[in-house]
Formats: sequence, C-alpha cells, structure tokens
Amino acid sequence: MMQNTKNTQVAVLGAGPGGYSAAFRCADLGIHTTIIERYPTLGGVCLNVGCIPSKTLLDIAKIIDNTNKLSENGIFKEKTIYDIHAIRKWKERIVNQLTNSLNSMAKMRNINIVNGHGRFIDKNNIHITNNNNNTIINFEHAIIATGSHPNKLPFIPYNDQRIWDSTDALELKYIPKNLLIIGSGAIGLEMATIYNSLGSQVDVIELLNQPIPDVDEDITRLFIKYTQKQFNLFLGTQVTKITPKTDGIYVNTENGQCVKNKTHYDTIIVAVGRKPNSELLNLNNINININQSGFIKVDNQMRTNISNIFAIGDVIGTPMLAHKSIHEGHIAAEVIAGMKSYFDPKVIPSVIYTNPEVAWIGFTEKTAKIHNMNYEVANFPWLASGRAITSNAQEGITKLLFNKKTHRIIGGIVLGKHASELLGEIGLAIEMGCDAEDISLTIHAHPSLHETIGLSAAVYEGSITDIPNIKSKINKNLYTK
Ligand code: FAD
Ligand code: NAI
Repeated sequence: MMQNTKNTQVAVLGAGPGGYSAAFRCADLGIHTTIIERYPTLGGVCLNVGCIPSKTLLDIAKIIDNTNKLSENGIFKEKTIYDIHAIRKWKERIVNQLTNSLNSMAKMRNINIVNGHGRFIDKNNIHITNNNNNTIINFEHAIIATGSHPNKLPFIPYNDQRIWDSTDALELKYIPKNLLIIGSGAIGLEMATIYNSLGSQVDVIELLNQPIPDVDEDITRLFIKYTQKQFNLFLGTQVTKITPKTDGIYVNTENGQCVKNKTHYDTIIVAVGRKPNSELLNLNNINININQSGFIKVDNQMRTNISNIFAIGDVIGTPMLAHKSIHEGHIAAEVIAGMKSYFDPKVIPSVIYTNPEVAWIGFTEKTAKIHNMNYEVANFPWLASGRAITSNAQEGITKLLFNKKTHRIIGGIVLGKHASELLGEIGLAIEMGCDAEDISLTIHAHPSLHETIGLSAAVYEGSITDIPNIKSKINKNLYTK
C-alpha cells in the first residue's frame, strides 16, 4: 500500500461549486491550494448530476412543450418527435464541456488535485484513500465543501431498479409510461416537467398542503392552474407503503389509493430533500460543531469552531443552492487570505425551472407577515404584457413587495417563462435599496418580459397605463390651470 504526504496552505475538501470556487479564489489570492475530490471529475452535484444536466433537459422539455402548443394551433403540422439517445448525448456533451473547463482552469491556477475520499486525522491533516493509494495532505487551513445527498424514506425498497433518485432520473434510462414522484420540491417539480414532456403520465405526491411552500399561496394556486395539464399534484398526501411487483410498483397512501383508481406505477422518483455530507469525514476527531441535522456550524466568515477550518455550501445548511455555495466559497478564501470579508447578502434568489418557472427573492407576503413588515403588494399580470403574448407566455405574473413607509422594494416573485432571468433586476434593486419610483422610471425595453418589473412598480406608484389603474384617484386633482 502506497502512502505519501503533501503539504499545502489550503486544502479544499470537495470540488462542487462551493469547493472549486473557494479553491480558484484561494489560488488567485496567491495561496497554494489542493482540491480533494472523491470523483474523477470536478463540479460536484451541480455540474455532474444536478443543476446543469437538469437544466439541459428542462430546456429541451420546454422546446417540446412550446412546439406542441404551436402544433395545436396548426403552426407545425406534427407533434415533436425526439430521439432519446441524442438527448442523452447532448446532455453529456454539455456536462463534459463544463467539467473539462473546470479542469483546465484548475490547471491554469496550478491547483493540486488529489482524487479519493478524504477524512480528517487531526486539525492539520486529511487522509485520502483511493483504492490502494493513500495520501496525507498536511494543511494550514482547510475548507470543507462536501455537499449533500438525497434523504431516504425508511419504507422504500431502494434496491428495486425502478425506484430512482434524482441522479437516476437524470440518466434518462427509459421513459416510464406511468411515473410517480414523491415530493413536490424543486427536484420533484423539475423532474415532473421533464418526464411529462418526454411522454410520461406523471403524478406527484406531496406531504404538505402547498407545493413550493416558500412562495405565497396566490402564486402557487396559479402555478397549479398552469401546470395541471402536465402532471397531477396530490397535496396533503403521505405514501405509507410501496410494494414492488412484476407488473409495477404498488403504492398505498394513508387515504388508500393515491390517485384516481391508479394502483401501480412503472417507476417512482423519490425527491424528499437532501442531507449534508458531514458523516464519514471523522469530524469528531477534531471536535467540529455540527447541529442536530448534521449541518456544520459556521460564523459569518464561514469559520467553524476550529479556527483554521472553514465550511461552505450544502454541508452548512439551507438554502442548498449552487450560487449560495459559490458566494460562501469566495468569502472563506478571502478570509483565509486576510481580507475582511463577511457573508452578508440581503437576499438569495431561488428558482424552480418548471414550465412556467417560479422565481423569488427577498420577502414574500408570508415572510413579510412573520416579520411584521408594513408592506404593500403590486402585481402585473402577463396577460397584459406584449412580450408575453408574442412569446406564448401569457401564463405569468410579476409580483413585487414594497415597504409601505419607504416605498423601497423588499421582495419579488415572478411566475412565468424565463422568470429566472427577471430575478436579477429585482435582486439588484433590493441590494441597492431602490424604491418603486427608481424602478418605474427606469426605461425598460418594449416589448420585453423584464418590462413587467417596471410595470409592476408603476402599479404600486399609481402611474400604470397598461392596465386599469386602481390608484388613479390619488393623482386625479393634480391638474391646475
Ligand atoms: P456539491 O456540489 O454536493 O459538491 C460536494 C463535492 O464534495 C462532491 O463532488 C463530492 O463528491 C465531494 N465529496 C464529498 N465528500 C467527500 C469526501 N469525504 N472526500 C472527497 N470528496 C468528497 N442548485 C441551484 O442553485 N440551481 C439549480 O438549478 C440546482 N439544480 C439542482 C438539481 C438537482 C437534481 C440537484 C440534486 C441539485 C440541484 N441544485 C441546484 C443544488 C446544487 O446542486 C447544490 O446546492 C450544489 O451542488 C452545492 O454545492 P456544494 O459545493 O456545496 O456541494
Ligand atoms: P425540497 O426540500 O425542495 O422538497 C422536498 C419536498 O418533499 C417537500 O415539499 C416536502 O414537503 C416533501 N416531502 C418530504 N417528505 C415527504 C413524504 N414522505 N411524502 C411526500 N412528500 C414529502 O427537496 P428536493 O426537491 O429533494 O431538492 C433538494 C434540494 O436541492 C432543494 O432544497 C434545493 O435546495 C436543491 N435544488 C435546487 C434546484 C433549483 O434551484 N432549481 C433544483 C433541484 C434541487
């Protein structure tokens, strides 16, 4: 058995978006950096089995759906016929393009990459095993960026090949005729969108009484209305038993049968949340504090209770999002380099890339109520947006929240095609402390979907002309001769 020891200034454990961003920032700040990653490719869940492959498939799904919608109007003569092998290859090509580019960028920065499973020996050493090779990395600082893995439900027979997690689902092994998805979170809803477009009949079961519980109910009601042709959503329902048989997987809920007379499915995707990868790291060897759910505790500089060890990304808590991990990775690197950096964003954006997309940032009405905020809402329905109408995207709404006293924007939810792309303006406006007038007086391109943000602010201001102006009375007596 071979064993060698290497010294480094910073060891980054895990090469997902958090880990590679931290490592690249460290190297750019002149720090000798080593990445330790158990898989042969960099990029972690996001690039290999998460954000990137799912968004690639969702893009194709949306093209199929939109083309089919136009076919219904006779614009195309036939429904879309796709080639599943070509879709798989396309997805793999995109994933490879991005992960290869990470390898080149790591090389350019002279970052040392060690492949294998890393565990802490003590506060300055990580032991890495890769088959029969053992390496010890002696470090001055370490950044733990080991990510997360899917939650499991105790009664599910996971050894049955027809029961999938998100990684299996993204492989597109086959297109099941009848698909059940357990959990209507980000993964469940995005998979429902993909598989429905590829031809599956999809049922989604959700424990809670609302899908996307972070978002206001007026928005999720619209979301359900817009997506009901794509999949059946069974809310407030709990699966209690799953029995694999040769003709399908039989499903029982506490109410008996889960779906209109449907007893069994060809395939089940389980998407009921994710857990931090904080086990198997020997964190108890170094007494790192973790909370009850296994998330590593850090301060606002991403430092654990051990002063030379930092942690970032999914392994430190929700929201488990790539852009949050990346931002935290930069902070950890900068603090190690001696900069006075802190994690203090006002807001973190969230998007579910369904068709239509749901995107939100900052306060929702739900959270504004919890925080006793004095707020007012302004809605702009996409039925009145020229761009939405020309793009077959009338199913949408832009909802903004303003502080009633200062008129500053405090949050926004966009439901609609490309909602993810509209969130940038709202996020920047919140970070910059813009008020409704700043937004409504900014000239937005016409016709465009982002125009709905300016128009929503105009609704709040009472200066809207594109739809009936419910505040028009306020300004009625301004005219004087
Ligand atoms: P990860 O990406 O999980 O990376 C951790 C890395 O650490 C992995 O490469 C792992 O192999 C490695 N590792 C773990 N333990 C060890 C060890 N002991 N030794 C060596 N290496 C180790 N987020 C978004 O923001 N937008 C999206 O659209 C989005 N879509 C998603 C779709 C799916 C299907 C899934 C599952 C997730 C999605 N996410 C999305 C979430 C996103 O992927 C994660 O938030 C993000 O990857 C977290 O980054 P991370 O660096 O913290 O961890
Ligand atoms: P999630 O936490 O988003 O949703 C899980 C859902 O399953 C919840 O609505 C929950 O109520 C439900 N659930 C839990 N137990 C259940 C049960 N026994 N029966 C029925 N429903 C049950 O988790 P998900 O979808 O697995 O995704 C994990 C994380 O990955 C997300 O929280 C998100 O951070 C990240 N992600 C982000 C994406 C994006 O940004 N677009 C896309 C995919 C994942």
